[in-house]
Amino acid sequence: MPTKAAPQAILEPRLLCGPGPANASPGVMEALARPPLGHLDPDIFPILLETAQMLGAVYLRDEGDGMSIPLSSTGTSGMETGMAALLEPGDTAIVGVNGYFGRRLAEIARRYGANVIAIEADWGEAVSNEKILAELDANPGTRLVAVVHAETSTGVRHDLAELGEAMKGRETFLVADCVTSLGGSELRLSDWGVDYAYSCSQKCLGMSSGMSPISISQRALDHAKAASPDYNFYMDLALLEDYWINRPPTYHHTLASPMLFGMHEALREVLDEGLEARWARHAQAGGHLQEQIRERGMTLVADPDHQLAQLTAVHVPEGIDGKEVQLRMLREHGIEIGGGLPGAPAMWRIGLMGTNASVETADRVLEALDAVLADAPVAAG
Ligand SMILES: Cc1ncc(COP(=O)(O)O)c(C=O)c1O
Repeated sequence: MPTKAAPQAILEPRLLCGPGPANASPGVMEALARPPLGHLDPDIFPILLETAQMLGAVYLRDEGDGMSIPLSSTGTSGMETGMAALLEPGDTAIVGVNGYFGRRLAEIARRYGANVIAIEADWGEAVSNEKILAELDANPGTRLVAVVHAETSTGVRHDLAELGEAMKGRETFLVADCVTSLGGSELRLSDWGVDYAYSCSQKCLGMSSGMSPISISQRALDHAKAASPDYNFYMDLALLEDYWINRPPTYHHTLASPMLFGMHEALREVLDEGLEARWARHAQAGGHLQEQIRERGMTLVADPDHQLAQLTAVHVPEGIDGKEVQLRMLREHGIEIGGGLPGAPAMWRIGLMGTNASVETADRVLEALDAVLADAPVAAG
């Protein structure tokens, strides 16, 4: 069979301003292209430990409390690993559901045999901590409460600090989906009492997709080891700890070293910039975009009191063909923006994450959107 040239899309760089992936930073791109190392090369072991340490620092998990490591797979694997590690069949799990990813979390908990109590809110609204806590009081043996800190399907932020504070002193574990928040908005696992958090590499950390950074408290890790020694193999946190943290390391799976180098560099860049400075940069870029969108007479999906900076969901204006606008943004301007996920109202989702979190990038997106909307395709019917 004759070989073919790379498809055009691979050759033309895109500005990725959808819900993720975002563009990787230049330093991370370089790191991803370094010569690979074997997963048992002695020179890789210090990089594993350094990466784990930096991840703990980015999550603001106290040193010595539990473990923070990136899994060799995407954000969903972090979600699944947490549910597999912490739930036994018959356990009760209270899950906040106000969009696509809360729904996925509830579904995964159900698949691991949990009795799931979903606390729901409409798309664009935040899940009420009061309702979660009332349900927890009614079910004191609940194994875990899980919420989505940054619901990417709508741009809504959960009041995680408030929930963590209210749950302090309880045995119930607090789990948070931080896929869109890590590196982009305030997140303090130890202060807030979050037992298990998972994220991804491709959004506010500024890497490509392929890793899921997780962080687990010591008490949750102890529970995972004691309660479920054989829940599965690939996501077994004790086995992963034996490779990533304990020395001498024990082979568990063939880690892709380019991914490790990319993650190491991404975390280094986050810490070099400083967490608060990075959160502020995301806040400034997102705030600017949102103000400009409102000035153009368009409306946002998220409740303004819970609006994320890094993800702006915009209602598609009446009569406009939203999907056609997305396609023209891509074809005519090289800019990706997202649409709504299944079950959501018609929307565009604009992400300013990681290296793309700047007022300049926001202005580039706005300029392209203005140009496309000037002769906007009208929705059929
Ligand atoms: C909030 C949230 N949770 C989970 C996921 C799943 O992550 P992945 O697609 O990397 O598996 C995503 C993906 O966008 C997300 O935004």
